[in-house]
Amino acid sequence: MPYAHITGWGMSVPEPVLTNDDLAKIVDTNDAWIRERTGIRERHIARASDFPSTLGTDAALKALSVANLRATDLDLIICTTSTPEHLFPATACLIQDQLGASKAGAFDLLAACTGFIYAVNMAAQSIRSGAIKSALVIGTETLSRFVNWEDRNTCILFGDGAGAFVLQASDQPGGVLATVMRSDGSGSNLLTLPAGGSRHPATEATIREGQHYIFMDGREVFRFATRVMASSTEEVLKLAGLTKDDISVIIPHQANSRIIDAAARGLKLPIERFVVNVDRYGNTSTASIPIATVEAVEKGRVKAGEKVVFVGFGAGLTWGALVAEWTGPLPTPRKVNVGRDRLWGRIRSILHRIERFLEGIIWGRRA
Ligand code: COA
Repeated sequence: MPYAHITGWGMSVPEPVLTNDDLAKIVDTNDAWIRERTGIRERHIARASDFPSTLGTDAALKALSVANLRATDLDLIICTTSTPEHLFPATACLIQDQLGASKAGAFDLLAACTGFIYAVNMAAQSIRSGAIKSALVIGTETLSRFVNWEDRNTCILFGDGAGAFVLQASDQPGGVLATVMRSDGSGSNLLTLPAGGSRHPATEATIREGQHYIFMDGREVFRFATRVMASSTEEVLKLAGLTKDDISVIIPHQANSRIIDAAARGLKLPIERFVVNVDRYGNTSTASIPIATVEAVEKGRVKAGEKVVFVGFGAGLTWGALVAEWTGPLPTPRKVNVGRDRLWGRIRSILHRIERFLEGIIWGRRA
């Protein structure tokens, strides 16, 4: 049975930065309150030209460079996002087109902020089964478009950005070792975007009532998060036959530094074993774990052969944890050149459109 190795990683955040002081000019809040209650200092906010697909494509191109894999070699693209560009088509298909990944299947996976753990597991299981050889997993968000900028309970928390992993099959043991995925839909009302779906399609009333913004019961979500972060980490370690001492670093979902502190206390581990960058990005939902991973790798905190735990929670309610033996860095990463790779993706996409047009004529004549 092949193993599923994480061979590439990349991230992309929009340039504009919104600090706590900037927020204090919009809502009744202040830097000290936000830092003390959440650990967040600033977050990146999408420009009008940034979308989940464009941020996701940039992160994906960097991950493909690290893995030294061409987009045309990909078998599968899973995009996990809480802020898809449309109800359909899937944002994954938009990214597939921008990459020119002509041989890849593509779909979106929705498990809110736990999505990246679920998606990496789905990609890994597809590789482990022998069905595919390579997969791209992307977590990408423009949460700023769904935040009520008049609600100080939520608008201080979220940020925009994207992160991506490449997974590849190998006979060498390692890669994704075990995953725990959990859910509890009885808490679906605690964190939700109420309208815009088929239950409450957009109407004048839903817009007037602000039902197209993120709604959150912060205290209840906080209680839930502190409970599941430690328990799912322990569960996944047991499943993999490992102990806490085998783990070099834990990369948690970045929602609130107090939640990460509570997880560290629950696991009786020093906070230094956790990667924390929520101060500079806020909560980027599905993108937070891969963004934190890229920074950890670049700082030398994750090395080949070491074991890493990823753990997260989110709306649904969903939560989960994944343990992996880190593979990279590979001996031959390609030089990252997002501009050049993006251009090649566009060219492949245009050629594909011409091909589809000509095929349409041929099949039309035959019909
Ligand atoms: N600035 C200043 N005061 C604020 C504020 C802000 N941005 N937001 C809320 N407050 C006020 C509240 O109105 C409340 O005032 P009151 O006591 O007069 O009613 C007070 O601060 C305390 O509010 P509370 O909600 O109890 O604060 P908290 O310590 O629970 O922190 C969160 C609020 C949202 C930071 C915290 O509950 C949290 O992080 N929850 C989890 C959220 C999360 O992770 N969501 C994403 C999941 S993926």
